[in-house]
Amino acid sequence: MMFSPIVIRSNRGEYPVNFYDDFELLCEATLDSKATIVVLDESIQRIYEKRLEPLVGSAETFVIHSSESEKTLDGCTRLLEHMAARNANRDTVVLAIGGGVLQDIVTFAAHVYFRGIAWHFVPTTLLAMADSCIGAKASINFSGFKNQLGVYHSPSMVSICVAFTKSLDDTALLSGLGEIVKLHLAGPETAFDELVETIANRGLRSPELSKMVYRSLRIKQGYIEQDEFDNGVRRHLNYGHTFGHALESITDHAVPHGIAIAIGMDLVNYISLKRGLLSSSIYRRIHEFLARTFAFSIRGEIRPEDWIAPTKRDKKSKDGKLRLVLLRKPGELELVEQENASELFLWVSEYCNSQMFLRTKIQIN
Ligand SMILES: NC(=O)c1ccc[n+]([C@@H]2O[C@H](COP(=O)([O-])OP(=O)(O)OC[C@H]3O[C@@H](n4cnc5c(N)ncnc54)[C@H](O)[C@@H]3O)[C@@H](O)[C@H]2O)c1
Ligand SMILES: [Zn+2]
Repeated sequence: MMFSPIVIRSNRGEYPVNFYDDFELLCEATLDSKATIVVLDESIQRIYEKRLEPLVGSAETFVIHSSESEKTLDGCTRLLEHMAARNANRDTVVLAIGGGVLQDIVTFAAHVYFRGIAWHFVPTTLLAMADSCIGAKASINFSGFKNQLGVYHSPSMVSICVAFTKSLDDTALLSGLGEIVKLHLAGPETAFDELVETIANRGLRSPELSKMVYRSLRIKQGYIEQDEFDNGVRRHLNYGHTFGHALESITDHAVPHGIAIAIGMDLVNYISLKRGLLSSSIYRRIHEFLARTFAFSIRGEIRPEDWIAPTKRDKKSKDGKLRLVLLRKPGELELVEQENASELFLWVSEYCNSQMFLRTKIQIN
């Protein structure tokens, strides 16, 4: 095993995050989890059916086509119906193998079924391995808006095998990197520079990827063990998410979650700069890295009001005042209220009109 297990202390007890070098070791260890229902991502079934045979061969398998439209009450209902038809009970363990979308569906269903049953997670995307697999949060989309309904329900175990990332395309890999960058900017002061250097020297598809995953989880662990239920410091991990979620909504999820977060961090960094919290040299250093790494093209134009309208439903907002997580410097985030709406509109307009990767990359065609 490449890394020793991480043990996450949660309100519902401790759970381990184990690391496996290959599928054989993963299957061997996971077989012990006594899962009786397996929920499998469709791509994973297609690509890894043979290699995961010992794990999924004999179990009742429910296959999910992972998409934001499946991450809804309807999608959860389909899984709950499957569980009920298989007479799932409080001794049932659901084994979930897939990315962040499948995780959110399974967590939600496992939480409400018989007031909570156990689930074991094998994350298969970089985003799920490096970020979402710990922390117990699950959100599903509702009434056309992202992540409106949610629960907290820790897994009983997480098993990570970074070899799954080999079959991810570059966009999915970059989406995972978006959350990795967020966590490195939320971590110790030097973490971000070290990450940038590693990516520059070794690239993403390198053995260093496991270390990035491990480091990200360690940083997130620090936050969730202090504040599992998002009442304080964990809110800093929403950095990039207010405008990131807005971008996902505006583009109907054409921009993958982690890439939207990277762009959301860039915009909120611009606001941090304008509010005098972030120095222009740090702003530029981060911007250049984000622009170089996360350039992403979609059709159509995004106007300043498009960025701002969806933020009105942001969970962090209070009394109609938008709350943003701003950056002072790597390792120092701050939750602030943005009361002045016209000031915000001006900055977002400037951001859209300036020589930034959003304008050149997003407003094409
Ligand atoms: N609960 C949380 O704490 C949390 C945190 C961050 C993000 N999220 C949510 O996670 C979702 C994004 O998750 P995601 O990025 O993992 O995407 P995803 O689960 O939609 O997977 C992306 C695509 O990759 C495919 N796939 C999965 N594993 C693969 C593999 N190893 N090889 C090839 N293809 C594979 C899937 O079938 C899917 O088509 C968003 O809805 C986001 O809101 C949740
Ligand atoms: Zn996220």
